[in-house]
Amino acid sequence: MGPFLCTTSDVPEGGRKSVQPESLPELVVCNVAGTFYVLAATCSHGEASLAAGRLLGCELECPLHAGRFDVTTGGATRRPAKKPVETYQCVEQDGGLYLTDAASSAASASQAA
Ligand code: FES
Repeated sequence: MGPFLCTTSDVPEGGRKSVQPESLPELVVCNVAGTFYVLAATCSHGEASLAAGRLLGCELECPLHAGRFDVTTGGATRRPAKKPVETYQCVEQDGGLYLTDAASSAASASQAA
């Protein structure tokens, strides 16, 4: 299991939370109808943090120019955002959410790039 992200109760249904696991970039955890999704928090259009945006169904809206991303895939669904943001796998255990090992090594690699 990878780094701890937050507890499941930190992210109510329809909510999102910024998390910054040690040595990883800022990530955002979203709760869509009880399923948790984790994606890179930095918008692919600019430098805004998606963690400050609104979660509308399964879309996370950028607070700066209102571009949107599908949190299930990371794909951009509304301009001006065009490029996807990275998504990460997480697992739930004993009320906590953790990145999977594969996800945390991907995150480290993308941070190093
Ligand atoms: S910075 Fe996110 S849409 Fe422009």
